[in-house]
Amino acid sequence: MTKFEPISDPIIVQEVAPRDGLQIEPTWVPTEEKVRLIDAFSDLGFSRIEVSSFVSPKAVPALRDAAEVFARIKRNPDIIYVALVPNERGADDALAAGADELNLVMSVSQTHNLANMRMTGEASFAAFQAIAKKPRGKATLNGSIATSFGCPFEGDQPEQRVLDLVRRYLDLGVDGVSLADTTGMANPRQVRALVDKALKLVPPGALTLHFHNTRGLGLANVLAAYDAGARRFDSALGGLGGCPFAPGATGNICTEDLVNMCHEMGIATGLDLETLIQLSRILPPLLGHDVAGQVMKAGRNCDLHTAPALVR
Ligand code: COA
Ligand code: ZN
Repeated sequence: MTKFEPISDPIIVQEVAPRDGLQIEPTWVPTEEKVRLIDAFSDLGFSRIEVSSFVSPKAVPALRDAAEVFARIKRNPDIIYVALVPNERGADDALAAGADELNLVMSVSQTHNLANMRMTGEASFAAFQAIAKKPRGKATLNGSIATSFGCPFEGDQPEQRVLDLVRRYLDLGVDGVSLADTTGMANPRQVRALVDKALKLVPPGALTLHFHNTRGLGLANVLAAYDAGARRFDSALGGLGGCPFAPGATGNICTEDLVNMCHEMGIATGLDLETLIQLSRILPPLLGHDVAGQVMKAGRNCDLHTAPALVR
C-alpha cells in the first residue's frame, strides 16, 4: 500500500464505464455483459455507479437497453444507481426503471448542446425545471455541466457562465452538481481556480469532477481539484469513454489508475485495486480493442517481478 501517512480525507469514486464508457463503443455489448459488469462494480464497493442513459436510441444505440439493464442488475440498497437524462421523457423512463438518481446533463457551450442534445441550453434547462417539479419518490437529482473547461467547437468557456449554471441548478433544488471536462481541455491551474469558486456554492460532498484524459492531464487535474477541496470524481474502468457528439473525444480518467494514484499517496478510496485490475482485464476481449488504462498493464507497484538472470 502506501509509504505515506494516510491523508484524512478519502475520495468518492463514481464508476461511469457502463454509461460514459460504453456510449461510444461501436461493438454492441450484450445486456447480460453490461449487467455482469455493473454487478461486479456493486461487489467491488463503489457507492455510486452510473448505469446507463435514457436518451434517444438513435442518438446512442449502444445504450438502448437502459431499462432492461436497470431491471436485471442486483441492487444494493447502499449504492446509488444513476441514470443520465436529457429530457422529460428520459426522466420518466429512468424513474420507471427505478433509478436512484437522475443525472441531468447540458453543456455550457451552446454549440455542443446543440450537437449533443439537439436543443438550445435554454430548452434543456426548461426540461430540467419540469423534471424538478415531478414527483420522484426518493430519487435525487444531479446537474451536470458539460464542456465546463472548454468546448471542442467554441474553445474557452467563461468561468462565470459555468458558475451561473451551477447557481441555476442549485435554484432548481438539485442534490449535486458535476463539472465535466467533456473533451479533456482542462489544465490543473484552471481546475484549481474553478473548483475553488464552485466550492463556495456547493459543498464538497455534492460536487463531482468529471475529467477525460484526452490530452493526458486527467490525473493532474484530479490532484489539482483535490488540493482545492474536491472529494468526488467520476472515472471509468480501463479509461473507456467519450462523448459521441464531440470531435476527438476519448476516454474518461481510468478508475484503476486513479485508485492506484490515490492509494500510493495515502488517499483512501474504499476500493480494492487488485480486484479492479482483474476486472479491467475483461475489457479488451469484450470490446475487441486495447484500452487506455496503464496500471492494468504494468501491475501495482507492490507486484514484484522476478528479475531476469544476469547476462554475463
Ligand atoms: N429516450 C428515448 N427516446 C427518446 C427520448 C428519450 N429520452 N427523447 C426523445 N426520444 C425519441 C423520440 O420519441 C423520437 O423518436 P422517433 O424518431 O422514433 O419518433 C426521437 O427520439 C427524436 O425525438 P425528438 O424529441 O425530436 O428529439 P431530438 O431528435 O431533437 O433529440 C435528444 C433530442 C435529447 C432525445 C437526443 O439528442 C439525445 O438523446 N441526446 C443524448 C445524447 C447523449 O447521450 N450524449 C452523450 C451523453 S452527454
Ligand atoms: Zn464524459
